[in-house]
Amino acid sequence: MKSQWTRNDIPDLSNKTAVVTGANSGLGFETALGLAAAGAQVILACRNANKAEAAMKQIQISAPPAKLKFMPLDLGDLASVRSFAKTFAAEHSQLDLLCNNAGVMALPLRRTTDGFEMQIGTNHLGHFALTGLLLPQLQAADGARVASMSSGLHKPGKIRFDDLNWNQGRYRKWPAYCQSKLANLLFTFELQRRFEKHGVDAIAVAAHPGYAATNLQAAGPEMAGSNFGKRLMGFANLCLAQSAADGALPMLRASTAAEVKGGDYFGPDGFQELRGSPQKVGCTARARNVADAGRLWTLSEELTGVSYLD
Ligand SMILES: NC(=O)c1ccc[n+]([C@@H]2O[C@H](COP(=O)([O-])OP(=O)(O)OC[C@H]3O[C@@H](n4cnc5c(N)ncnc54)[C@H](OP(=O)(O)O)[C@@H]3O)[C@@H](O)[C@H]2O)c1
Repeated sequence: MKSQWTRNDIPDLSNKTAVVTGANSGLGFETALGLAAAGAQVILACRNANKAEAAMKQIQISAPPAKLKFMPLDLGDLASVRSFAKTFAAEHSQLDLLCNNAGVMALPLRRTTDGFEMQIGTNHLGHFALTGLLLPQLQAADGARVASMSSGLHKPGKIRFDDLNWNQGRYRKWPAYCQSKLANLLFTFELQRRFEKHGVDAIAVAAHPGYAATNLQAAGPEMAGSNFGKRLMGFANLCLAQSAADGALPMLRASTAAEVKGGDYFGPDGFQELRGSPQKVGCTARARNVADAGRLWTLSEELTGVSYLD
């Protein structure tokens, strides 16, 4: 496998259609830019139209003539996820690449429209439903990919099978984030197993960006009204983080490189996987636990009402 991988290694993506969730900011923006620059038609699946329009303008300037389209998607609202999938199906017969990128981190306790804890609801359950609802278009493509963004913070993560949505006990925002990022990996590996079992011509892969300076770190402190937290995160970003452009490379490699196989997981190759060139990386045994993955799949089906590949 190539040791240094850059944007120049992205293959030609003309005639490919990609959906990137959370494409207006940070890693999603850089992923959309990389895909569009390689010729893909990119659908920016975002919850804020103004931010999406601004992102499209920027991508158009950086990578003309980019083929871009905004379609509204709020992952914290299953009605919005269903509406997105319906509109997509009406306008597109196939989907080559779904980048499940959008996410929130370490927010104070908030709930989605459907009552899910916000981090598991947005980061996992929304994407679980979206993937299932877009399955017909993924199946119609030749060798589609579903690429989900996890995090090094999946490592301390545990799935609270008895209380996924923190309806009981004291809410803890970091364990809730780690749970959601572990869920991204369990979902990816289970999706891959189910693609294989059902003979679907598609692969499921995952990536993590290391530590990249984006809006992610400020959102939690901002919501909690903590100026100190915001300044602390800003300082850490300045000292430790790599750029969002570099942070998006593992996702871009997982999403596009020819040598990638189903179940592969990419992250930066540097110290503690915080920064560096995108390479295949390992994950915890808990993330590869087949029984947990099956249990989470069933629970996600029950909670979202979206069932697929059973
Ligand atoms: N940055 C890092 O160091 C780091 C490390 C590990 C993993 N990650 C993961 O990388 C992914 C991208 O994060 P980022 O760092 O690029 O952060 P970011 O700049 O804050 O971008 C997050 C994106 O997700 C969108 N989003 C949030 N809630 C949404 C919802 N309900 N519906 C639709 N879109 C929603 C945001 O939209 P708005 O702009 O409207 O809020 C934004 O576009 C996340 O999954 C995160 O967990 C990041």
